Amino acid sequence: MTQEQNKRAPTQLQSERVINIIVREHQGLWRVIDLMDMLEQDMNINAKQPDELLLTTIFDYIEHFSDRVHSQPTEIFLYKLLREKSPETGPLLDKLERGYVIGHEKLQELRQLLKNCMVQWPDGREAFGHGLGRFSAALRKHIKKEEGVVIPRAREILNEDDWGAIVVARDQQDDPLFGERVREEFRELRHKIISLTPERLGGLGLAHSPRVTAHREGQEMLSIKGLVSSYGQIEVLHDVDITINAGEIVSLVGANGAGKSTLLMTISGLQSADKGQLLFDGEDLSTISADKRVTKGIVQVPEGRQVFKDMTVYDNLLLGAYTRSGDAEIQSDIERIYSKFPILRQKRYNLAGELSGGQQQMLAMGRALMSRPRLLLLDEPSMGLAPLIIEEIFEIIRELKDEGMTIFLVEQNASQALALADRGYVLETGNVVLTGTGKELLSNEKVREAYLGM
Ligand SMILES: Nc1ncnc2c1ncn2[C@@H]1O[C@H](COP(=O)(O)OP(=O)(O)OP(=O)(O)O)[C@@H](O)[C@H]1O
Ligand SMILES: [Mg+2]
Repeated sequence: MTQEQNKRAPTQLQSERVINIIVREHQGLWRVIDLMDMLEQDMNINAKQPDELLLTTIFDYIEHFSDRVHSQPTEIFLYKLLREKSPETGPLLDKLERGYVIGHEKLQELRQLLKNCMVQWPDGREAFGHGLGRFSAALRKHIKKEEGVVIPRAREILNEDDWGAIVVARDQQDDPLFGERVREEFRELRHKIISLTPERLGGLGLAHSPRVTAHREGQEMLSIKGLVSSYGQIEVLHDVDITINAGEIVSLVGANGAGKSTLLMTISGLQSADKGQLLFDGEDLSTISADKRVTKGIVQVPEGRQVFKDMTVYDNLLLGAYTRSGDAEIQSDIERIYSKFPILRQKRYNLAGELSGGQQQMLAMGRALMSRPRLLLLDEPSMGLAPLIIEEIFEIIRELKDEGMTIFLVEQNASQALALADRGYVLETGNVVLTGTGKELLSNEKVREAYLGM
């Protein structure tokens, strides 16, 4: 908001507005601290091994918060003004500042303790629980000081012009305390925490592998051996071997007509296999219908999105849950999708046909997520989209991986797909001609020439 606009809206004092923002951010942090306490109890009382992904996300949030908001307090206009106008607050602000530095170190220690706790369970439990408890107590004390001392003092000392100046500083987008962009980052991290938090603790209970363990990760999820598939007389896939391990993103690149979509459809059961073996979690898929494969967790987002254009966004999402029962759970999943794709919430009553291409892609992905996939098959999600939207789609794919999902990604946009991938395969006229880590393929001469245009 510009100063002009501020003048036109005199109903609320600037000071109140600024303080409200601080208090709201503190409340958000406070709830996260509550959650940390509950997770600690869960671990100690119920002897449950902690959810590493959730805790790591919480640590990321707190670290981000303290990095962006507190690591350079001199940049915060409020502190600066307060130091100038009320030098006696200096020592307190110094002390709080030191607290941020120590907090930062403690956070790194906690990350290490969590790692130990995961690897040596239940041995590392006590040390981690202890560290967690002390950390949350210190954070609480800190917030109380800011709210109980710093803000009241600022109320006394600063006049409305000062607060106005703080608002102006806030309007410089990246002001570390009030900048819209910074608050947006916090919101995103909080959303992620909420979606990962189990329902019984007040979250959305996003299904994710509760622990990205060394032994689960890397375990073979899909194994394809000697696969042959044809349309009538024309053989399209010749003797294809592909493995996808749990937790991986595997990218498949190849030219037009190479057989990429055919391969995905063979995995999801929409196209039949003439020969070869498809195992999912060790189970032979040959006699399992496409529908049944969805219930087992194999879910495809088809090429060209194919959303139901005459239905609303909401109804499209609901359709994604057709293999499931349990209304409350489905509704909470829809909420989870909305928090991942806020645009879908905004457009929930629009017809899917009214959405832009990028929005339709998000809807198609959202619909697939509604069936709680374990292996997500994405067929050219970036096709025909503007570069900025492509970035966003890739960001979401990265996020899904972080949540523990296994992803098989077909892309013509080879450089981005390989950069994102743990491993990749190159398909040429129905044959796998190359495989390796994403990095290896990216630097491979042949790949660079044929698919990266270098
Ligand atoms: N329904 C079909 N009937 C007959 N031939 C088909 C059919 N669908 C695809 N094909 C042929 O099979 C081959 C592989 O097609 P596929 O769609 O799997 O390739 P792709 O790698 O996904 O290509 P693109 O990059 O264009 O999406 C192509 O030669 C294509 O013409
Ligand atoms: Mg295709």
